[in-house]
Amino acid sequence: MSESALPRGPSAPPLWQTLRWLVRPVELMESCRRRFGDAFSLTFLGFESPMVLLSDPEVVRELYSSTEHTLPPGRTVSLLPVMGPSSLLLLEGDQHLERRRLMLPPFHGERLRAYGQAVAEIADGEIERWPDGGEIVIHERMRAITLEAILRVVFGVTDEARRERLRAAVPAFLAATSSASLSFRVLLAGRLGRRSPLERLALRDELDALLFSEIAERRASGASGEDVLSLLLNARFADGSTMSDRELRDHLMTLLLAGHETTATALAWTFELLLRNPPALRRLRESLAAGEEAYLRAVISESLRLRPVVPMAGRRLACELTAGGLRLPAGTDVTPAIWLLHTRPDVYPDPYLFRPERFLDGAPATFAWLPFGGGVRRCLGAAFAELEMRVVLEAVLARVALEPVGRAERIARRNVTLAPARGARARTARRLPSPEAAAPRAA
Ligand code: HEM
Repeated sequence: MSESALPRGPSAPPLWQTLRWLVRPVELMESCRRRFGDAFSLTFLGFESPMVLLSDPEVVRELYSSTEHTLPPGRTVSLLPVMGPSSLLLLEGDQHLERRRLMLPPFHGERLRAYGQAVAEIADGEIERWPDGGEIVIHERMRAITLEAILRVVFGVTDEARRERLRAAVPAFLAATSSASLSFRVLLAGRLGRRSPLERLALRDELDALLFSEIAERRASGASGEDVLSLLLNARFADGSTMSDRELRDHLMTLLLAGHETTATALAWTFELLLRNPPALRRLRESLAAGEEAYLRAVISESLRLRPVVPMAGRRLACELTAGGLRLPAGTDVTPAIWLLHTRPDVYPDPYLFRPERFLDGAPATFAWLPFGGGVRRCLGAAFAELEMRVVLEAVLARVALEPVGRAERIARRNVTLAPARGARARTARRLPSPEAAAPRAA
């Protein structure tokens, strides 16, 4: 076993490492893997200690098996000013587990299945607006669907005027916060102990006002729906008290931001990969026409492997981590390098090829397939996201023929995600009329 010491990493100054991460994260990780192997350290501007990136599944198993580890400060810097202190992504220990238990039921089982029909209706409505024989930016179109799904199904917003304002405010906010320059200024402000530029965004206040008015109205009307907001409004703590408006706002903001852009990006990548792999697309269409779901699920697993949307899901070690020849001391910030795990040739032969067949024979390997992170903090909405992806893929492929436009997409960092740089463009040709005009859809 090695001495307790951090693995090696680039010797370039933190400023350079940070800029490379912001502009070319995949290239940076790949080059570090070539130079340093399965574990290396990066030092980002604004952080006192390095972040250790891991890509050995056995070490990741060790990391995610402990419930004691806390969160690395990176999350606080980039998420706290937007999501607020009660966000599930930022809570720790018992408080985190208590809130998580409360929020989990609507994302599983019967309730989740009931959301499928609503998502199908949202997707059909969106597809109806696509031009027949025109060009679309798939990422934008997917964002419209997944935002609507959160607003209707998760928040249960019924007021059309407020939904319309949220539909405009959320993308504007995301666009304003996605630039590399803002991310850089956020890190710098953290380093200098200054107020985060994210807190000064007028667009955040506008979004807050919409969320607070939704909370107030639903509180007043009795909140009897099946959506997450109704559930949280009715939840009681041990002493009989209810959640404050401030806490509810943080949960809504978290679900909105964690839930819609990620799923839209995953869908955009899935279409991009399928359109550039005609045999896989053909096989998917044929299997769906035959009423089978196995290949659809495999396509989604493979897409989330080859284009993981979130590159890091880190922890600060509460105790020493000893695995795979490493000994990392308590207090170290550690994250799986999700891209590197997903492109290990010993786990995934020909790792850079899109080959859904690799997932047909079984579920993905737990600690070598981590698009949703892992352990006690694994993505709360993973099952909901995969359901949305199945429903949307099926709806689009049944009604529209798509052809890719231009070269294959480059991977670009956008906020905390890795997205198609030009949004995955495609030409459309309508295949079938809307379901109302065609045969009625099976329930
Ligand atoms: C393809 C889509 C999605 C991806 C790739 C994704 C990815 C992730 C990742 C990597 C984490 C961190 C996990 C960790 O630290 O181990 C996370 C956490 C979380 N996600 Fe997702 N997510 C997606 C969709 C959603 C949706 C649809 C929702 C809800 C509507 C959601 C809500 C959350 C929440 C609340 C957490 C915090 C969980 C906790 O700390 O206990 N996500 N997600």
